[in-house]
Amino acid sequence: MQKIKTIGVITTGGDAPGMNTAIRAVVRTAIFHGLKVFGVERGWMGLIENDMRQMDIASVGGILNRGGTILHTVRCPRFKEKKSRDQAFKNLKSRGIDALVVIGGDGSLMAAEVFGRENNLPIINIPASIDNDIPGTDYTIGFDTAVNTAVEAIDKIRDTATSHERLFVIEVMGRGSGSIAIDVGLVCGAEFVIVPEFKYDINKMCKLIRSGRARGKKSFIIVVAEGAASGHDIAKQIKKCIPGVDARVSVLGHIQRGGAPTALSRELACKMGSQAVGHLLAGKSNGMLGVRSEKIVFTSYKELSRMKKKIDLEAYRIAKELAI
Ligand code: F6P
Repeated sequence: MQKIKTIGVITTGGDAPGMNTAIRAVVRTAIFHGLKVFGVERGWMGLIENDMRQMDIASVGGILNRGGTILHTVRCPRFKEKKSRDQAFKNLKSRGIDALVVIGGDGSLMAAEVFGRENNLPIINIPASIDNDIPGTDYTIGFDTAVNTAVEAIDKIRDTATSHERLFVIEVMGRGSGSIAIDVGLVCGAEFVIVPEFKYDINKMCKLIRSGRARGKKSFIIVVAEGAASGHDIAKQIKKCIPGVDARVSVLGHIQRGGAPTALSRELACKMGSQAVGHLLAGKSNGMLGVRSEKIVFTSYKELSRMKKKIDLEAYRIAKELAI
């Protein structure tokens, strides 16, 4: 086993609050252990274009509590081409980088697996995505922050919804996963939660809205994950089914991706950033760190490929039961 002397750190895919905290943890841990660290700009694109800079202790000062990523990030279809990946590896070698820490979502995981295998390059992934849609970890960095941002917004909407006796359809992020919708639906007392994992029945929903209104219910909140349906479509369908209902729509959008990371997002980022470097130094790589039952664990890419991320069915069931 070759001794690792220089590592690269990269953020890829959609940003997530806590990515900066993780960058800081990786850089400072590496420097603590006498390694050289390069920060790669704009995800895989920076690797292909050789856009990297050496990081020192001060370069990650004051970023722990800042949303976004100081290294910037792009979605990079070019990295799917073998010739781009070969160029990226050449660039890494030219700077003497012998291992990578990749901070990102599920797309980053797949790209890292291929890149590591092709070039026999040690890589550790740190799961960061607001969607919480990555197998092998109970939570991703940024998920808790996004949920808290959405909760704050929905609590405010509930106030005005109740004053005006309105129904609000609130669209939250989650392309292929209902994790954000379920969590915020549960803790905001949403009357309905619509997620991509389950079919929704608009007629059943309208029946419940009608009976709620007959009982004197003043407001309704329907949380819909963007991957299940658009908020505007759901409102349209409800208006058609219950003529005269004052149904409004609020699309929370990218507000969920920004802002200061919560304590939980920061804690995961500090621990995973530190352990990513620790694993590389110990000769363990080609896998992802995760948190399972409050412990940071390592799972190899091979094991991860057999795992499927499940949504929190219990939270979904309870949200439904409490909304009667
Ligand atoms: O990173 C995850 C996510 O926020 C999804 O919830 C959302 O569908 C997507 O990214 C939006 O990506 P973009 O900002 O690139 O349009």
